[in-house]
Amino acid sequence: MEYVKLGRSGLKVSQISLGCWTFGRADTTYGQPGKVGVDDSVRIIHKAADLGINLIDTANRYTDGDSEEIVGKAIKGRRHEFVIATKVRGRVGAGPNDEGLSRVHIMDQVERSLRRLGTDYIDLYQAHSVDPTTPLDETLRAFDDLVRQGKVRYIGCSNFPAWVLAKSLWISDVERLASFVSVQPTYHLANREVEKELQPLCVDQGVGMILYSPLGGGLLTGKYLGGVPSGSRGEAKPQLVNQAQRLEKALGVLNEIAASYGKTASQTSLNWLVDRPAVSSAIIGVSRIEQLDENVGAVGWKLSAEDAARLDKAFR
Ligand SMILES: NC(=O)c1ccc[n+]([C@@H]2O[C@H](COP(=O)([O-])OP(=O)(O)OC[C@H]3O[C@@H](n4cnc5c(N)ncnc54)[C@H](OP(=O)(O)O)[C@@H]3O)[C@@H](O)[C@H]2O)c1
Repeated sequence: MEYVKLGRSGLKVSQISLGCWTFGRADTTYGQPGKVGVDDSVRIIHKAADLGINLIDTANRYTDGDSEEIVGKAIKGRRHEFVIATKVRGRVGAGPNDEGLSRVHIMDQVERSLRRLGTDYIDLYQAHSVDPTTPLDETLRAFDDLVRQGKVRYIGCSNFPAWVLAKSLWISDVERLASFVSVQPTYHLANREVEKELQPLCVDQGVGMILYSPLGGGLLTGKYLGGVPSGSRGEAKPQLVNQAQRLEKALGVLNEIAASYGKTASQTSLNWLVDRPAVSSAIIGVSRIEQLDENVGAVGWKLSAEDAARLDKAFR
Protein backbone atom coordinates (compact mmCIF):
# COMPACT_ATOMS: atom_id res chain seq x y z
CA MET A 1 0.00 0.00 0.00
CA GLU A 2 1.12 3.56 -0.61
CA TYR A 3 0.39 6.41 1.79
CA VAL A 4 -0.03 10.09 0.98
CA LYS A 5 -0.70 13.16 3.07
CA LEU A 6 -4.31 14.22 3.44
CA GLY A 7 -4.05 17.60 1.72
CA ARG A 8 -1.63 19.84 3.52
CA SER A 9 -2.32 18.20 6.90
CA GLY A 10 0.35 15.94 8.40
CA LEU A 11 -2.02 12.93 8.40
CA LYS A 12 -0.97 10.07 6.12
CA VAL A 13 -3.72 7.98 4.57
CA SER A 14 -3.70 4.92 2.33
CA GLN A 15 -4.31 5.70 -1.34
CA ILE A 16 -7.08 3.10 -1.27
CA SER A 17 -9.51 3.43 1.62
CA LEU A 18 -12.53 1.40 2.67
CA GLY A 19 -16.10 2.69 2.59
CA CYS A 20 -18.55 1.16 5.07
CA TRP A 21 -21.88 2.15 3.53
CA THR A 22 -22.65 -1.42 2.52
CA PHE A 23 -22.13 -2.77 6.04
CA GLY A 24 -25.27 -3.64 8.00
CA ARG A 25 -28.94 -4.33 7.34
CA ALA A 26 -30.44 -3.28 4.01
CA ASP A 27 -33.91 -2.47 5.42
CA THR A 28 -33.06 0.52 7.62
CA THR A 29 -34.99 3.82 7.75
CA TYR A 30 -32.14 6.25 7.00
CA GLY A 31 -28.96 6.20 4.94
CA GLN A 32 -29.46 3.11 2.74
CA PRO A 33 -28.02 0.77 1.39
CA GLY A 34 -26.24 -1.93 3.55
CA LYS A 35 -26.26 -5.62 2.61
CA VAL A 36 -23.10 -7.17 4.10
CA GLY A 37 -23.74 -8.90 7.46
CA VAL A 38 -21.84 -8.07 10.67
CA ASP A 39 -19.33 -10.94 10.65
CA ASP A 40 -18.46 -10.55 6.97
CA SER A 41 -18.13 -6.77 7.41
CA VAL A 42 -15.72 -7.20 10.33
CA ARG A 43 -13.73 -9.73 8.29
CA ILE A 44 -13.53 -7.25 5.38
CA ILE A 45 -12.32 -4.44 7.68
CA HIS A 46 -9.65 -6.70 9.22
CA LYS A 47 -8.53 -7.86 5.78
CA ALA A 48 -8.35 -4.24 4.63
CA ALA A 49 -6.03 -3.46 7.56
CA ASP A 50 -3.89 -6.50 6.70
CA LEU A 51 -3.60 -5.15 3.15
CA GLY A 52 -2.38 -1.79 4.48
CA ILE A 53 -5.61 0.23 4.29
CA ASN A 54 -5.73 2.63 7.25
CA LEU A 55 -8.55 5.04 6.23
CA ILE A 56 -12.05 3.77 6.99
CA ASP A 57 -15.03 5.92 5.94
CA THR A 58 -18.49 5.70 7.47
CA ALA A 59 -21.31 8.09 8.50
CA ASN A 60 -23.66 8.51 11.44
CA ARG A 61 -26.65 7.66 9.27
CA TYR A 62 -25.31 4.72 7.25
CA THR A 63 -27.62 1.77 7.89
CA ASP A 64 -29.19 3.66 10.83
CA GLY A 65 -25.90 3.59 12.75
CA ASP A 66 -25.20 -0.13 12.19
CA SER A 67 -22.24 0.76 10.00
CA GLU A 68 -20.51 2.74 12.78
CA GLU A 69 -21.25 -0.03 15.27
CA ILE A 70 -19.67 -2.58 12.95
CA VAL A 71 -16.58 -0.37 12.56
CA GLY A 72 -16.46 -0.07 16.37
CA LYS A 73 -16.53 -3.85 16.68
CA ALA A 74 -13.75 -4.26 14.10
CA ILE A 75 -11.37 -1.68 15.58
CA LYS A 76 -11.74 -2.83 19.18
CA GLY A 77 -8.27 -3.42 20.64
CA ARG A 78 -6.52 -2.09 17.51
CA ARG A 79 -7.77 1.51 17.34
CA HIS A 80 -4.32 2.98 16.54
CA GLU A 81 -4.13 1.06 13.23
CA PHE A 82 -7.05 3.02 11.77
CA VAL A 83 -7.85 6.53 10.62
CA ILE A 84 -11.60 6.68 11.25
CA ALA A 85 -13.61 9.11 9.16
CA THR A 86 -17.32 9.63 9.84
CA LYS A 87 -19.92 12.24 8.91
CA VAL A 88 -22.82 14.28 10.22
CA ARG A 89 -25.59 16.17 8.41
CA GLY A 90 -28.19 13.78 6.98
CA ARG A 91 -31.54 13.12 8.65
CA VAL A 92 -31.37 10.52 11.45
CA GLY A 93 -34.74 11.00 13.11
CA ALA A 94 -38.13 12.67 12.72
CA GLY A 95 -37.46 15.71 14.97
CA PRO A 96 -36.70 19.24 13.75
CA ASN A 97 -33.10 19.04 15.01
CA ASP A 98 -32.44 15.51 13.80
CA GLU A 99 -30.50 16.69 10.76
CA GLY A 100 -28.24 19.48 9.59
CA LEU A 101 -25.03 21.21 10.60
CA SER A 102 -26.30 23.25 13.54
CA ARG A 103 -24.28 23.30 16.77
CA VAL A 104 -27.05 21.38 18.54
CA HIS A 105 -27.14 18.55 15.98
CA ILE A 106 -23.36 18.28 15.66
CA MET A 107 -22.82 18.18 19.45
CA ASP A 108 -25.54 15.53 19.84
CA GLN A 109 -24.39 13.38 16.92
CA VAL A 110 -20.68 13.38 17.73
CA GLU A 111 -21.44 11.76 21.09
CA ARG A 112 -23.60 9.10 19.42
CA SER A 113 -20.94 8.39 16.80
CA LEU A 114 -18.21 8.09 19.46
CA ARG A 115 -20.40 5.68 21.42
CA ARG A 116 -21.18 3.49 18.41
CA LEU A 117 -17.55 3.51 17.27
CA GLY A 118 -16.39 2.63 20.80
CA THR A 119 -13.65 5.27 20.73
CA ASP A 120 -12.95 8.60 22.38
CA TYR A 121 -11.79 10.36 19.21
CA ILE A 122 -12.70 10.58 15.53
CA ASP A 123 -9.76 11.15 13.19
CA LEU A 124 -11.71 12.94 10.46
CA TYR A 125 -15.15 14.42 11.15
CA GLN A 126 -16.91 15.45 7.94
CA ALA A 127 -19.90 17.60 7.09
CA HIS A 128 -21.81 15.13 4.86
CA SER A 129 -23.22 17.87 2.62
CA VAL A 130 -24.09 21.56 2.73
CA ASP A 131 -26.78 22.73 5.17
CA PRO A 132 -28.11 25.95 3.65
CA THR A 133 -30.20 26.68 6.76
CA THR A 134 -27.24 27.00 9.15
CA PRO A 135 -24.60 29.75 8.92
CA LEU A 136 -21.23 28.26 8.04
CA ASP A 137 -19.54 30.03 10.95
CA GLU A 138 -21.88 28.23 13.41
CA THR A 139 -20.86 24.87 11.92
CA LEU A 140 -17.15 25.70 11.83
CA ARG A 141 -17.18 26.99 15.41
CA ALA A 142 -18.85 23.77 16.62
CA PHE A 143 -16.26 21.69 14.72
CA ASP A 144 -13.46 23.84 16.13
CA ASP A 145 -14.74 23.21 19.68
CA LEU A 146 -14.67 19.47 19.02
CA VAL A 147 -11.07 19.69 17.82
CA ARG A 148 -10.10 21.67 20.94
CA GLN A 149 -11.89 19.12 23.14
CA GLY A 150 -9.86 16.32 21.52
CA LYS A 151 -12.99 14.50 20.32
CA VAL A 152 -12.09 15.18 16.70
CA ARG A 153 -8.60 15.42 15.19
CA TYR A 154 -9.26 16.82 11.71
CA ILE A 155 -12.35 18.16 9.96
CA GLY A 156 -13.47 17.71 6.36
CA CYS A 157 -16.54 18.15 4.19
CA SER A 158 -18.35 16.17 1.53
CA ASN A 159 -20.50 17.14 -1.45
CA PHE A 160 -19.52 20.81 -1.01
CA PRO A 161 -19.47 22.87 -4.21
CA ALA A 162 -16.19 24.75 -4.74
CA TRP A 163 -17.63 28.12 -3.73
CA VAL A 164 -18.95 26.84 -0.40
CA LEU A 165 -15.63 25.15 0.36
CA ALA A 166 -13.78 28.37 -0.56
CA LYS A 167 -16.09 30.38 1.73
CA SER A 168 -15.55 27.84 4.56
CA LEU A 169 -11.76 28.08 4.22
CA TRP A 170 -12.02 31.88 4.31
CA ILE A 171 -14.17 31.87 7.48
CA SER A 172 -11.77 29.45 9.22
CA ASP A 173 -8.90 31.70 8.23
CA VAL A 174 -10.29 35.01 9.43
CA GLU A 175 -11.95 33.56 12.54
CA ARG A 176 -8.90 31.39 13.37
CA LEU A 177 -10.98 28.22 13.47
CA ALA A 178 -10.04 24.66 12.52
CA SER A 179 -10.09 24.38 8.74
CA PHE A 180 -11.34 21.62 6.41
CA VAL A 181 -8.35 19.46 5.42
CA SER A 182 -10.34 17.32 2.98
CA VAL A 183 -13.36 17.21 0.74
CA GLN A 184 -15.23 14.06 -0.30
CA PRO A 185 -16.78 14.31 -3.76
CA THR A 186 -17.48 11.60 -6.31
CA TYR A 187 -14.88 11.39 -9.08
CA HIS A 188 -14.04 8.65 -11.55
CA LEU A 189 -13.24 8.19 -15.23
CA ALA A 190 -16.90 8.55 -16.21
CA ASN A 191 -17.72 11.48 -13.87
CA ARG A 192 -15.33 14.44 -14.18
CA GLU A 193 -17.46 17.19 -12.64
CA VAL A 194 -14.82 18.08 -10.00
CA GLU A 195 -12.26 18.92 -12.66
CA LYS A 196 -14.00 22.22 -13.46
CA GLU A 197 -13.75 24.02 -10.12
CA LEU A 198 -13.35 21.83 -7.04
CA GLN A 199 -10.10 20.12 -8.03
CA PRO A 200 -8.26 23.35 -8.98
CA LEU A 201 -9.40 24.87 -5.65
CA CYS A 202 -8.06 21.81 -3.77
CA VAL A 203 -4.71 22.03 -5.59
CA ASP A 204 -4.45 25.74 -4.81
CA GLN A 205 -5.51 25.48 -1.16
CA GLY A 206 -3.91 22.13 -0.25
CA VAL A 207 -7.22 20.38 0.47
CA GLY A 208 -7.06 16.59 0.02
CA MET A 209 -9.76 14.94 -2.07
CA ILE A 210 -11.00 11.58 -0.81
CA LEU A 211 -13.24 10.17 -3.48
CA TYR A 212 -16.46 8.28 -3.07
CA SER A 213 -17.89 5.79 -5.58
CA PRO A 214 -14.53 5.66 -7.40
CA LEU A 215 -15.77 2.77 -9.55
CA GLY A 216 -19.06 4.50 -10.27
CA GLY A 217 -20.81 1.93 -8.05
CA GLY A 218 -19.38 -0.94 -10.16
CA LEU A 219 -19.79 0.67 -13.59
CA LEU A 220 -16.02 0.76 -14.23
CA THR A 221 -15.58 -2.93 -13.45
CA GLY A 222 -17.17 -3.46 -16.87
CA LYS A 223 -19.55 -6.05 -15.42
CA TYR A 224 -22.71 -4.21 -16.51
CA LEU A 225 -21.92 -4.56 -20.22
CA GLY A 226 -23.47 -8.01 -20.08
CA GLY A 227 -26.64 -6.99 -18.18
CA VAL A 228 -27.20 -7.09 -14.41
CA PRO A 229 -25.18 -9.83 -12.67
CA SER A 230 -27.22 -11.58 -10.00
CA GLY A 231 -26.68 -10.19 -6.48
CA SER A 232 -24.99 -7.03 -7.77
CA ARG A 233 -25.88 -3.40 -6.98
CA GLY A 234 -27.36 -3.21 -10.48
CA GLU A 235 -30.40 -5.12 -9.18
CA ALA A 236 -31.39 -1.96 -7.29
CA LYS A 237 -29.85 0.43 -9.86
CA PRO A 238 -30.65 -0.94 -13.31
CA GLN A 239 -29.51 2.36 -14.91
CA LEU A 240 -25.94 1.01 -14.51
CA VAL A 241 -26.62 -1.17 -17.57
CA ASN A 242 -27.66 1.83 -19.71
CA GLN A 243 -24.63 3.78 -18.53
CA ALA A 244 -22.35 0.86 -19.42
CA GLN A 245 -23.93 0.58 -22.86
CA ARG A 246 -23.38 4.30 -23.49
CA LEU A 247 -19.73 3.88 -22.46
CA GLU A 248 -19.16 0.63 -24.35
CA LYS A 249 -16.34 2.02 -26.49
CA ALA A 250 -14.55 3.70 -23.57
CA LEU A 251 -14.90 0.55 -21.43
CA GLY A 252 -13.35 -1.35 -24.35
CA VAL A 253 -10.30 0.96 -24.23
CA LEU A 254 -10.13 0.50 -20.46
CA ASN A 255 -10.18 -3.30 -20.82
CA GLU A 256 -7.54 -3.22 -23.54
CA ILE A 257 -5.16 -1.03 -21.50
CA ALA A 258 -5.81 -3.11 -18.36
CA ALA A 259 -4.98 -6.34 -20.19
CA SER A 260 -1.69 -4.87 -21.46
CA TYR A 261 -0.57 -4.44 -17.82
CA GLY A 262 -2.01 -7.78 -16.68
CA LYS A 263 -4.53 -5.85 -14.53
CA THR A 264 -8.31 -5.70 -14.35
CA ALA A 265 -10.55 -2.82 -15.41
CA SER A 266 -11.22 -1.92 -11.73
CA GLN A 267 -7.53 -1.85 -10.86
CA THR A 268 -6.69 0.23 -13.92
CA SER A 269 -9.43 2.83 -13.48
CA LEU A 270 -8.52 3.23 -9.78
CA ASN A 271 -4.83 3.54 -10.69
CA TRP A 272 -5.70 6.37 -13.10
CA LEU A 273 -7.76 8.06 -10.40
CA VAL A 274 -5.36 8.05 -7.44
CA ASP A 275 -2.74 9.74 -9.61
CA ARG A 276 -4.94 12.80 -10.37
CA PRO A 277 -4.03 16.18 -8.80
CA ALA A 278 -5.12 16.76 -5.18
CA VAL A 279 -6.37 13.16 -4.79
CA SER A 280 -5.40 11.67 -1.42
CA SER A 281 -7.46 8.48 -1.48
CA ALA A 282 -10.16 6.55 -3.34
CA ILE A 283 -12.81 5.14 -1.01
CA ILE A 284 -13.78 1.78 -2.44
CA GLY A 285 -16.96 -0.04 -1.51
CA VAL A 286 -16.97 -3.83 -1.52
CA SER A 287 -19.62 -6.44 -1.01
CA ARG A 288 -17.21 -9.40 -0.97
CA ILE A 289 -13.67 -9.90 0.30
CA GLU A 290 -12.45 -10.92 -3.21
CA GLN A 291 -13.40 -7.45 -4.49
CA LEU A 292 -11.21 -5.93 -1.79
CA ASP A 293 -8.27 -8.16 -2.79
CA GLU A 294 -8.71 -7.18 -6.41
CA ASN A 295 -9.17 -3.45 -5.87
CA VAL A 296 -6.13 -3.09 -3.61
CA GLY A 297 -4.11 -4.26 -6.63
CA ALA A 298 -4.82 -0.80 -8.08
CA VAL A 299 -1.72 0.62 -6.39
CA GLY A 300 1.97 -0.26 -6.37
CA TRP A 301 2.35 0.23 -10.15
CA LYS A 302 1.84 3.11 -12.56
CA LEU A 303 0.09 3.64 -15.87
CA SER A 304 2.32 5.27 -18.49
CA ALA A 305 1.55 8.92 -19.25
CA GLU A 306 0.40 7.83 -22.75
CA ASP A 307 -2.06 5.25 -21.40
CA ALA A 308 -3.37 7.66 -18.74
CA ALA A 309 -3.97 10.22 -21.51
CA ARG A 310 -5.68 7.59 -23.69
CA LEU A 311 -8.07 6.71 -20.87
CA ASP A 312 -8.70 10.38 -20.15
CA LYS A 313 -9.64 10.93 -23.78
CA ALA A 314 -11.74 7.78 -24.16
CA PHE A 315 -14.04 8.76 -21.27
CA ARG A 316 -14.05 12.53 -21.80
N1 LIG B 1 -20.15 11.32 0.87
C1 LIG B 1 -21.15 10.76 0.19
O1 LIG B 1 -22.19 11.38 -0.07
C2 LIG B 1 -20.99 9.33 -0.24
C3 LIG B 1 -21.87 8.79 -1.20
C4 LIG B 1 -21.66 7.46 -1.61
C5 LIG B 1 -20.62 6.72 -1.05
N2 LIG B 1 -19.80 7.27 -0.10
C6 LIG B 1 -18.65 6.53 0.50
O2 LIG B 1 -17.91 5.91 -0.54
C7 LIG B 1 -17.85 4.50 -0.32
C8 LIG B 1 -17.78 3.77 -1.63
O3 LIG B 1 -18.92 4.07 -2.45
P1 LIG B 1 -19.44 3.01 -3.48
O4 LIG B 1 -19.81 1.75 -2.76
O5 LIG B 1 -20.46 3.65 -4.33
O6 LIG B 1 -18.06 2.76 -4.30
P2 LIG B 1 -17.65 1.98 -5.63
O7 LIG B 1 -16.29 1.43 -5.30
O8 LIG B 1 -17.77 2.87 -6.80
O9 LIG B 1 -18.71 0.80 -5.82
C9 LIG B 1 -18.67 -0.29 -4.96
C10 LIG B 1 -19.52 -1.43 -5.47
O10 LIG B 1 -19.07 -1.87 -6.77
C11 LIG B 1 -19.04 -3.29 -6.80
N3 LIG B 1 -17.61 -3.68 -6.93
C12 LIG B 1 -16.55 -3.14 -6.28
N4 LIG B 1 -15.40 -3.74 -6.67
C13 LIG B 1 -15.73 -4.67 -7.56
C14 LIG B 1 -14.98 -5.61 -8.33
N5 LIG B 1 -13.65 -5.67 -8.22
N6 LIG B 1 -15.65 -6.42 -9.19
C15 LIG B 1 -17.00 -6.35 -9.32
N7 LIG B 1 -17.77 -5.49 -8.62
C16 LIG B 1 -17.14 -4.65 -7.74
C17 LIG B 1 -19.64 -3.78 -5.50
O11 LIG B 1 -21.07 -3.86 -5.63
P3 LIG B 1 -21.87 -5.21 -5.96
O12 LIG B 1 -20.99 -6.39 -5.67
O13 LIG B 1 -23.04 -5.13 -5.04
O14 LIG B 1 -22.24 -5.09 -7.38
C18 LIG B 1 -19.35 -2.63 -4.55
O15 LIG B 1 -20.21 -2.56 -3.44
C19 LIG B 1 -19.08 4.21 0.56
O16 LIG B 1 -18.96 3.02 1.29
C20 LIG B 1 -19.10 5.42 1.43
O17 LIG B 1 -18.14 5.28 2.48
C21 LIG B 1 -19.97 8.56 0.28
